[in-house]
Amino acid sequence: MPRSGPGGRHLLDVDDLSDDAVEDILRRAASFAAGARPHSSDFADRLIATLFFEPSTRTRLSFEAAAHRLGARVIGFSDAGATSARKGESLEDTIRTIAGYADLLVLRHPEPGSAARAARVSQVPIVNAGDGDHAHPTQALLDLYTLQAERGATRGHSVVLLGDLRHGRTVHSLAVLLTRFGNQVTLVAPPGLEMPAEVIAKCRESGAAPRQTHDLGEAVADADVLYVTRIQKERMDPADYARLSGSYRVDAALLSRASSDLLVLHPLPRVDEIDPAVDDGPGAAYFRQAANGVPVRMAILARILEKN
Ligand code: NCD
Repeated sequence: MPRSGPGGRHLLDVDDLSDDAVEDILRRAASFAAGARPHSSDFADRLIATLFFEPSTRTRLSFEAAAHRLGARVIGFSDAGATSARKGESLEDTIRTIAGYADLLVLRHPEPGSAARAARVSQVPIVNAGDGDHAHPTQALLDLYTLQAERGATRGHSVVLLGDLRHGRTVHSLAVLLTRFGNQVTLVAPPGLEMPAEVIAKCRESGAAPRQTHDLGEAVADADVLYVTRIQKERMDPADYARLSGSYRVDAALLSRASSDLLVLHPLPRVDEIDPAVDDGPGAAYFRQAANGVPVRMAILARILEKN
């Protein structure tokens, strides 16, 4: 089965989209956010399946909201324990089966590379909604859209990515996309949770190499965007989690070192890495960012369904 390429069949990671395709998605998302809707019959006979083998609040519900708002219909599951995976069915067989029922599959799965495995056996497009600690391209698109919505441009920002950069799939896709769009990326992670070398190499291929530092205060002082992530407890040894949890926190003291219009983003869920007192500041955009998931996923679904 072919990978998508710019034509837009599967969306496994941000490399499947050309710059033009990304810009098309952002344009469509802005128009959906402003209230535009497809003609009522456009997607009425299309059926989307959401297959969530891992917990999710925002990604699944915003995909389902997006599908409904396009006028498409949705089937799916959010508890893999209630599916035949429990009886030992392989991912491939589950995908082959559901590809016979629906026009597009949105997949979240704990194993890195699972979306590519699904794409190899699926007759219909696969959209990766997070494959283990590997990639999360639709989150990266909504993050880039949020930059544009909040600051008027996708390019030319100085962005700090903070947190568990090793296991966080959102930052893997986002670092590459931000670099491609001409942003300067600075990586700040607790020791042992640094960004994987492959992601840094991909960034280098597409633009400026990210800067790495352990000095969060100094990084934030030069930034106009701070993208915070939680430590991915479920992807590490409990002893490591106990040692590293609480090792960084975004609070008023940190923000006093930053520009007063620093934009603070987070893919959510947060645990303790942002003090809730930060929420009231004008730069705290993470709940607006979550809301942007709907128009951006409408744009992603519409683009793929139109071509398939
Ligand atoms: C993220 C994920 O699932 O990777 N959540 C999301 O999709 N907004 C981030 C996380 O779980 O930390």
